[in-house]
Amino acid sequence: SVVILDFGSQFTRLIARRFRELGAYSVILPGSAPLDRILRENPQGIVLSGGPSSVYDEAAPKPAPGVLDLDIPVLGVCYGMQYLAHQAGGDVKRAGKREYGKADLTQYGGQLFEGIQGEFVAWMSHSDSVTQLPAGYEVVAQTEDTPVTAIENRETRRYGVQFHPEVVHTPKGGQLLANFLGICGVTRDWTAEHIIDELVSDVRAQVGDGRVLLAISGGVDSSTLGLLLARAVGEKLTAVFIDHGLLRLGEREQVEAALKPLGVNLVTVDARAEFMAALDGVSDPEQKRKIIGREFIRAFEREARAYGPFDFLAQGTLYPDVIESAGGEGAANIKSHHNVGGLPDDLAFKLVEPFRTLFKDEVREIARLLGLPDHIRMRHPFPGPGLAIRCLGAISEEKLDILRRVDDIFISGLREFGLYDGCSQALAILTPIQSVGVMGDERTYSYTAALRAVTTDDFMTAEWARLPYEFLATMSNRIVNQVHEINRVVYDITGKPPATIEWE
Ligand code: XMP
Repeated sequence: SVVILDFGSQFTRLIARRFRELGAYSVILPGSAPLDRILRENPQGIVLSGGPSSVYDEAAPKPAPGVLDLDIPVLGVCYGMQYLAHQAGGDVKRAGKREYGKADLTQYGGQLFEGIQGEFVAWMSHSDSVTQLPAGYEVVAQTEDTPVTAIENRETRRYGVQFHPEVVHTPKGGQLLANFLGICGVTRDWTAEHIIDELVSDVRAQVGDGRVLLAISGGVDSSTLGLLLARAVGEKLTAVFIDHGLLRLGEREQVEAALKPLGVNLVTVDARAEFMAALDGVSDPEQKRKIIGREFIRAFEREARAYGPFDFLAQGTLYPDVIESAGGEGAANIKSHHNVGGLPDDLAFKLVEPFRTLFKDEVREIARLLGLPDHIRMRHPFPGPGLAIRCLGAISEEKLDILRRVDDIFISGLREFGLYDGCSQALAILTPIQSVGVMGDERTYSYTAALRAVTTDDFMTAEWARLPYEFLATMSNRIVNQVHEINRVVYDITGKPPATIEWE
């Protein structure tokens, strides 16, 4: 594997992503991870990430003692390169101005750049620069502003780049990282087939003859996990899908049709009445969420007892939720209720989390190989509380039914116009606003539906999607024509922040 030591760069995760795209398994550890922790990953190479610090800062982060004495190749990126140079006796200085953005390498060569030809655009973001090389190193790339843009020491196999090879703005960065893998002698066999085989044997080893319980949400992660576990333990898996009545049009049938034929022992639980009763008259968003979380656990517990006993609880936890990195905290708590925390002691399961080392797109690739249909595999995220937080205020069967039809027209429309995959998430919202309209010769007084589509990388911030007017016009027509309870359609043009993606 390649171990990436994280010194706080916002791009650290991208380095891991790139290596994995190149077929090499790589893990991110905190910059200060002790040597024995690193050795547990059988590292064949180490990357020192970028970070906001200067090597002269009092609290400048550094690798633990012994790490740089390992006889394996090391690549320093940005701060990582400055650190390498500094600790080997070179000099680093605060440059007059911060270099930020694209820069052309005026010349390059050496092992990292082997086989790369033509212009090399490098993406820079630094204010410190290496000004004097440590002994044994040579400069292998330069830009106009930065004479020392890449360095190498062939003997000790220490390499450094001032730019960020992992970002898309460095188009040939992937080749450079591939060269580093070559230098490390990493076998590039981290393919989806390989991952599946490994996960299946890991799960079998962990679970043995035990019985496994899984909550299926209908999203890509839990569905894929269902398929993987079915392959690994067959009938020892019970996958529980709770229909809380807050699903989209046809969703329950789609999930059943996708998983059952592929051998997943799926139990669908109709809990619609309980959820509706518990949510009756509740209009506060947080209250709704809490009630749904509570009811979900209650229903899940009941099924666990009915079909149990189980030894293991499987969860679709992904790598971004568990990365022990300098900047990797937060973000995960939004989904707390879906992690089925808070189960009572007599339902104390051991956890199985086969996807703990995977990124979302790796899960999608595995899903493809395991036969999950594309409409589920490539689906936008859908929140655990479902349509309840898109039907503003107190919900009712009638309102949910209206929202379901609006949502279906919008989402089907996005697919039909080839716009779905370009959005990170799209949703319809039923507002409690009623307004006056005219339909035929009749005055109407009906609800306003809102459409929202966003693009985002991480759902922490988002931009509203610039959908074509023609498309929006078509959606508006279809919605008011087909859903008589709606006489006005608006499109949400607010980013996050200041708004959130969901309206509640
Ligand atoms: P917001 O609305 O906070 O949403 O911008 C960010 C992302 O999180 C999803 N979301 C949830 N997912 N349970 C979930 O499983 C929730 O309670 C919840 N609330 C928001 C939302 O759909 C978006 O993808």
